[in-house]
Parts: sequence; C-alpha cells; structure tokens
Amino acid sequence: MKVGIAGTGRMGAAIAARLMGLGHELTVWNRTAEKTKELAAAGAKVAASPAALAGSVDVVITILTDEKAIEALYNGPQGLLSGGVTGKLFIEMSTVRPEVEVALAAKVNLKKAAMIDCPVGGTTGPAREGKLFGFVGGEDADVARARPLLDQMCRRAEHVGPVGSGARMKLAINLPLFVYWQALGEALLLCRSLKIEPERLMSILAVTSGAANAIKTRGGAVAAHLAGKDAGPVSFAVDGVCKDLETMIAAGKALGGTLPAAETALRCFREAAGAGLGEADQSVLPARWAKRQ
Ligand SMILES: NC(=O)c1ccc[n+]([C@@H]2O[C@H](COP(=O)([O-])OP(=O)(O)OC[C@H]3O[C@@H](n4cnc5c(N)ncnc54)[C@H](OP(=O)(O)O)[C@@H]3O)[C@@H](O)[C@H]2O)c1
Repeated sequence: MKVGIAGTGRMGAAIAARLMGLGHELTVWNRTAEKTKELAAAGAKVAASPAALAGSVDVVITILTDEKAIEALYNGPQGLLSGGVTGKLFIEMSTVRPEVEVALAAKVNLKKAAMIDCPVGGTTGPAREGKLFGFVGGEDADVARARPLLDQMCRRAEHVGPVGSGARMKLAINLPLFVYWQALGEALLLCRSLKIEPERLMSILAVTSGAANAIKTRGGAVAAHLAGKDAGPVSFAVDGVCKDLETMIAAGKALGGTLPAAETALRCFREAAGAGLGEADQSVLPARWAKRQ
C-alpha cells in the first residue's frame, strides 16, 4: 500500500517518520517546502503538488491546522481532489468541527473515493512512537481498510461512529485538558509564596487527586517554564489551543449548549497569545499565570 502525507507540520512530520520507520514507501507534500527536507533526506518522495501526491498513492493522510487549510489543500488549485482519485482512501486527522469532516467526506465520495476522520490525542512524541489515541469516524468498510495503518499510528484507535464522530470525540477530550492548564496556573499562583522548587512542586501536584493525565508527560515542561529554563521543543502551540477551544465552543453552540469553562480558558490562552506566546508550547500557560502580579 502506497501512503502519502499532505501537510508535514509538527504532527504530519512525526507520523511520517513513524510510518517510514516501519518500512512504508512514503510520498509527502507540504505548502512550505522546507518542512519536507528532513523526510526527503530520510528517503521520502516529495510530490510536486497535492494533486500529484493523491495521484501517486493508495492512501492519503492529512493533519492540518484548521478548516481553511483543509479547504485549500483538498479543494484549491492542484488540490488533492482536483485529479482522478477513484478508489483511494483519505484519512483526515486534523482537529476541526465535525461538520467540516462530514462536508469533506461528501466531496471525497463524489469523486468515488472514501474518507474517514481520525483526529488524535497525544503530541509529537507519541506520534513518532505510534502511540497516539485515534478517534475514528467512518463507514465500517472504510475503517477496516484503514485499520492496519491506524494501528501503526495509534496505541488505540476507537471507531466511535460515522464520519465526523472522531472530530466530536477529539474536541471532547481536549476540553478538560485546556481548562486544566488554566486551573493548574491558578493552583500554582496559590502556592507561589511557599517558594517550593518547581520540579518538587510539580512532583507533588502530579500525584494528587487534582492532577490531570497530561501532567505525567508535560509536568516537566511546566516546571521548566516556572524555573525560566528551556522547556524543550513545542508539542502543541498556544495558537493551536485557541483554535481548538474556538472549535469546541462553536460545536457546543451548534448543539444549543454553552461551555463557560472553555470560554474562560479561551480568554486566558488568547491573552497569552496576545503577549507574544502564540508559538510557545501550551505548557507555558500555567507557569505564566503563576507568575502574574
Ligand atoms: N501538535 C500536537 O500536539 C497535536 C496533537 C493532536 C492533534 N493536533 C492537531 O493536528 C493538526 C496539526 O497540528 P500541528 O501541531 O502539526 O500544526 P503545525 O505544525 O502548525 O502544522 C500545520 C500543517 O497545516 C499546514 N497548513 C496550514 N494552513 C495551510 C494552508 N492554507 N494550505 C496548506 N497547508 C496548510 C501547514 O503547512 P505549512 O508548514 O506550510 O504552514 C502544516 O503542514 C491540528 O489540527 C492540531 O489541532 C496537534
């Protein structure tokens, strides 16, 4: 099975590295060509356009910023759907509104191709190790076709319903995480006067009933931010968190509900982005809050 990845940003590149490590022959394309160089050096083919990529593989994986990126990459000039794609399978992994995946799948189906959505939990580390958690939406037959690849990218890939269901589930898992970062910042502010060394403080918080799972993987980064040290590479940026929170709030409104905790978290993350931290890792938020005057 020939696999193509269109969009080699942080997650796309990590997934590409994982699949190449397992021996897949991979073709890649990215709007900013620079970001395909490392993969090309490791043996990936680089397609001249999204259309050329879709024409040369059996399965196309996309993991892109947002719905505008999906529109440009699939439906733009030389887009993935601009040529013949009969019989191909698209695995769309971006975190976007469920309606975006449903509308895209309809366009893919019109071209006699199949699509599933599979947004993921886990950042670049788990992506490189094939340990993502996939939330899969699609027809049974299409999911079965994708299953061998899903199982190579994910430690667990749960089929939760028709196309769009994966997107809904993914928004649901990210909501408490982002609210948690803000809550953790407020907790750190409360114990600031104790002057406990950051790593020790995080090691205490990590094993209490108030901890979230993410503290196991990102607690060290929060401690580094608190100590003013280098927190390592960005896994998921503050701008991305804002995009996800906006998407959740829109999805909640579409259901006639409100998400006040998510709205508050969005205000706080937007403030961090406004202070020049849009490109910084999400783990910067709690440390920044704890240091507020
Ligand atoms: N990073 C994580 O930890 C993580 C975890 C789970 C899910 N996600 C989700 O995965 C998706 C990608 O995240 P990421 O962190 O990998 O982001 P990223 O590093 O910013 O990569 C975004 C990708 O989208 C492409 N793109 C954006 N706008 C485009 C456009 N108009 N036309 C064509 N391509 C466009 C970018 O191309 P350029 O390089 O040219 O800008 C890049 O390949 C997001 O939906 C995010 O919510 C991320």
